[in-house]
Amino acid sequence: MSEMLTLALSKGRIFKETLPLLKAAGIEPIDDPETSRKLILDTNQPDVRLIIVRASDVPTYVEYGGADIGVAGKDVLLEHPTAELYEPVDLNIACCKLMTAGKVEESDIKVRLKVATKFVESTRRFYAEQGQQVDIIKLYGSMELAPLVGLADRIVDVVDTGNTLRANGLVPMEHIADISSRLVVNKASMKMKHVRIQAFIDGVRAAVAEQRDD
Ligand code: ATP
Ligand code: PRP
Repeated sequence: MSEMLTLALSKGRIFKETLPLLKAAGIEPIDDPETSRKLILDTNQPDVRLIIVRASDVPTYVEYGGADIGVAGKDVLLEHPTAELYEPVDLNIACCKLMTAGKVEESDIKVRLKVATKFVESTRRFYAEQGQQVDIIKLYGSMELAPLVGLADRIVDVVDTGNTLRANGLVPMEHIADISSRLVVNKASMKMKHVRIQAFIDGVRAAVAEQRDD
């Protein structure tokens, strides 16, 4: 029997944008995670299954071997530094930027800014590199609200069109990092299932190159 390959994906944007790449690599899920409540999805290949996890949990599943391979945003990976993951392919999907943002009109110039974010590690690193001391407030979502109700002076969040910031009277300020989703691979799986995983990586890499050329 051939060895099982388990891929961790999150619902929504990452699943939708990874699907064509998987298809080009010959893998098609049998169920649709947007309509099915199953968390383990079979595919057209009997030895490949998909597991559906929260976007921010993908590196954890792959690091501890709950999945061999995963797809995670670079923003999420920057929050989860580990030597246990390979990051062999930039999939060039779910592209956005990690930025600081704040209100158009600043009421007063503060010596020590309060910054609300779910990206605590990247925020800490960014302001440390600037030599600027800040107080970081950890949030899990709706960061745009924080400056509007006086919880924080700035936020750090991902920005694509800028519509969410604009709709809340905020403006993008400093660019922290370009973000896209990456294929991540468990190091032990890479050793144990080398031929199978390398073939998968090659298939996905070819699909990404083809999508770039379109
Ligand atoms: P979680 O459920 O763990 O809180 P999430 O809600 O941020 O995660 P998604 O919204 O599906 O998950 O985003 C997945 C990834 O897509 C993010 O990690 C980021 O890399 C990227 N992303 C987020 N927002 C955008 C956007 N507006 N445009 C493009 N890419 C984005
Ligand atoms: C993400 C992110 C920002 C928004 C930025 O939210 O949290 O709020 O996209 O995109 P924009 O610059 O194009 O407006 P998303 O729409 O994924 O909802 P989420 O809060 O569920 O992540």
